[in-house]
Amino acid sequence: MNITVTSGSAFSQKLPVLILGAYENEHPQGPSALKHLLVNVGKKEFNGAAKQQLLLHTAGQLTPQRLLLTGLGKRAEANHETLRRAVGSAVKKLLAAGLERAAIAVPDTSSANDAIADIVDAAILASYKYTEFKPDNDNHTELKSLTLCLPARADQRAAKQAVTRAQTIAESTNFARGIADRPGNVVYPEIMADYARQLAKECGLKCTIFDKPALTRGKFGGLLAVGGGSAHDPRLIVLEYNPPTGKRQAPVAIVGKAITFDSGGISIKPSDKMDEMKFDKCGGVATLGALRAIAKLKLPVPVLGIIASAENLPSATSYRPGDIVTSYPGKDKRGITIEILNTDAEGRVVLGDAVSYARERNAQAIIDLATLTGACVVALGEFAAGLFSNNEKLPEKIKAAAHRTGERVWPLPMWQEYWDKIKSDVADHKNTGGRYGGAITGAAFIGKYAADTPWAHIDIAGTAWTATEHPYLAKGATGFGVRLLAELLSHWS
Ligand code: BES
Ligand code: MN
Ligand code: ZN
Repeated sequence: MNITVTSGSAFSQKLPVLILGAYENEHPQGPSALKHLLVNVGKKEFNGAAKQQLLLHTAGQLTPQRLLLTGLGKRAEANHETLRRAVGSAVKKLLAAGLERAAIAVPDTSSANDAIADIVDAAILASYKYTEFKPDNDNHTELKSLTLCLPARADQRAAKQAVTRAQTIAESTNFARGIADRPGNVVYPEIMADYARQLAKECGLKCTIFDKPALTRGKFGGLLAVGGGSAHDPRLIVLEYNPPTGKRQAPVAIVGKAITFDSGGISIKPSDKMDEMKFDKCGGVATLGALRAIAKLKLPVPVLGIIASAENLPSATSYRPGDIVTSYPGKDKRGITIEILNTDAEGRVVLGDAVSYARERNAQAIIDLATLTGACVVALGEFAAGLFSNNEKLPEKIKAAAHRTGERVWPLPMWQEYWDKIKSDVADHKNTGGRYGGAITGAAFIGKYAADTPWAHIDIAGTAWTATEHPYLAKGATGFGVRLLAELLSHWS
């Protein structure tokens, strides 16, 4: 998408359509011709309420050929998300009408650059649709160009920078969605490794892949156990970003769960909705997307991306309930031992290896993203990710970043009793703590590997994909976490 900024009036753009936001029960500002055009529009047709849209032909009365009014809701309740939603649904509507070039008036708010980021995010995210295996049957066009018409006093140079930054992050989110939406027969651990290698080449990252022989030599017992039942071998994927400038410091580790398909293994899942488990790689895919954005933006902090990828299937070589598995030892003398009670609690088992590796690499902080538990979806629904930590400051930083990007996170407690639930009689811990508090015991399992390194776990089981159309997201993968991590690391200190 070609995004340009101009200080020229939105109403003088010679383009097929001008997107114009309007607050509820307020007349949109503009030249007198605009008033004439809207004079007969009924309140129920359009009064600026959230979710309302109205597409009008201007019939020569205004320079843009059409006007797409989009409701911003009540001015007093307006925030970044209301703007993103209004722009997202407007973009979807104009794409449905086959319009590919648009202008938009940037609202005259206190911070034009924040509004620009919201608009660019929404426009790029709303333009994405997964069409790989349905190319002909598809009437989806892409938004080819968007002209942002700045408010009178806005700084053009700063506006251009805001566009570039938002565009890089939103495109990285769509890059992640494009991988996440692909099914398990197409994307398996080896393919995840290919994506990482390709990304490293494009963005100047260092990439190390641990294939099965390397995992065996390194004693990555968790990945080997979970991946053991599949014809597709597991991988540990490591991407390293080193900033061109900034003080020398230890890396921040982003760790992602990338189970390319989760059948549950021997503890097999019911078949209803099992297809959705192609999205069980979304934590790892978000890690790829975040590293893409971080590298392209040349952020001043070193980042280690660590992706634990395996396919969880039942077979004669699968790991079983009752097995005792030894995790990657990392910097410790011996690896943490796991009593497997349920092979479907596989995410924590592979993440144990990955978090141990992050600690061995002396990460200053570890943030893991995982579609870890159904229990988290029960607790928070599909509207927020669960946030867990062993630290006070880290979750505050994550909450602040998430608030800015509109990717909701919500903290859950980690009292000692939850850690006690996963104690085992025969190993260091067991991989399930029972049904109650399942999201938290899952988090506690991973937390054991972080030890005293500041660590946060984001359970994205409810937010990584959507089964319903959203104002600026299509059905399928959401790319949750990419924008959050890019925002977090933009302000890291
Ligand atoms: N990938 C699933 C979690 C999941 C379930 C994500 C539904 C999104 C929607 C994970 O590997 C899993 O199966 N977790 C089990 C853990 C249980 C066996 C302790 C679960 O949540 O049921
Ligand atoms: Mn599972
Ligand atoms: Zn899983």
